Amino acid sequence: MKIGILGLGTVGGGVVNVLRKNSNSIERRTGVKIQMPHAAVKSVNEPRICDDGDINITEDAFEVVNNPEIDVVLELIGGTTIAKELVIAAINNNKHVITANKALIATHGNELLALAKEKNVHLLFEAAVAGGIPILKSLEQGLSANKIELVAGIINGTGNFILSEMKEKGRDFADVLAEAQALGYAEADPTFDIEGIDAAHKLCILAAIAFGTELQFDKVYTKGISEVTAEDIKYATELGYTIKHLGIAKRSGDAIEMRVHPTLIANKQLIANVNGVMNAVLVKSNALGTSLYYGAGAGDEATASAVIADLIDIINNQKSDHILGWKAQEKPEVLDSDLIESEFYLRLLVSDKRGVLAEITQIFSQNNVSIESLVQKQVDGNNNAHIAVITNKIHTQDIRAVKLAIEACEFNQASVKIIHIESLD
Ligand code: HSE
Repeated sequence: MKIGILGLGTVGGGVVNVLRKNSNSIERRTGVKIQMPHAAVKSVNEPRICDDGDINITEDAFEVVNNPEIDVVLELIGGTTIAKELVIAAINNNKHVITANKALIATHGNELLALAKEKNVHLLFEAAVAGGIPILKSLEQGLSANKIELVAGIINGTGNFILSEMKEKGRDFADVLAEAQALGYAEADPTFDIEGIDAAHKLCILAAIAFGTELQFDKVYTKGISEVTAEDIKYATELGYTIKHLGIAKRSGDAIEMRVHPTLIANKQLIANVNGVMNAVLVKSNALGTSLYYGAGAGDEATASAVIADLIDIINNQKSDHILGWKAQEKPEVLDSDLIESEFYLRLLVSDKRGVLAEITQIFSQNNVSIESLVQKQVDGNNNAHIAVITNKIHTQDIRAVKLAIEACEFNQASVKIIHIESLD
């Protein structure tokens, strides 16, 4: 079995290191010796985390995908331009492909998977979602007897690191982001982490696997963590919640929900206690019930663990003509975010005048929003009252109407902050 590796950065270097250090146990599991004769890199002179002494290295990745000696191509470059061309070329050359590239699968996966099916080769991407956690294999294999109802995950390590450090150490957003970048967790463009795009890529892949649907990245409702403030975190903590950046895919009648947004989760929930760069995915399925998958969502050897598991699957499946992985059976409607039902947390800053609270509660009532609890936190030096509200389960469009109505009032002093609450019970 000869593999060609495109990219010897964090993930590619990790793959080489893990294949070397675990060669005996991998050979025992597959019955074959895996060879890595060729790899492509951006610059041959760049320092690497792996020993590449016996690998032929080129700066022309097409040399690798066009090499007849190669059986499986590992696309570990990232991005959606050259990586897409290389994956298409590899499949057209009848090579199996493994990729860790969530952006590529989320945005071009339907087309690439159709091509792979036509060419009768495997296109696997376990490492694209939640790094080393084998969540796609768990959904497809371990939970294959179940109907999946809900998948909710902390699937961006950088975002989780930022929120955890802000909560635990009161650290500044920008300072924690810089540390995540230095540690190699953040995307090349960190707005992908902060604005939820990376999590949305992963969430749409999770939804496709969980529900057997086409990939519909452009339908994911996406909100990042850049507007979560230290004050929100403090209030949430006082109310018994932790703010996490969750990706949620859920069945809702015949439709599905796909959304990524900051979420208040009760502290007693296990997933509320997943901190730092760790990832976790909670699954609700109709036979097992609730299960939780926790582990490293990024990092060289952790991600390599998922890449190599795909390689082992391909080797062990070689004698069969069954194409592993995703099969789109349907393309269900994705529920408009206005129609999503949720409880909400609201934070208001209003003038501390008689009758203001009465006006606020009237606005809630006029918009069909029932209040679960309301706390006036403090009156500041400007004579403004800080108010936190928790609602009952309502439609998102109603809370958006409340926000607009309050913001139009004279007593209102700042934009009204709305954050979803998810019970996950
Ligand atoms: N930027 C990603 C994260 C890397 O922080 O989770 C792993 O996909």
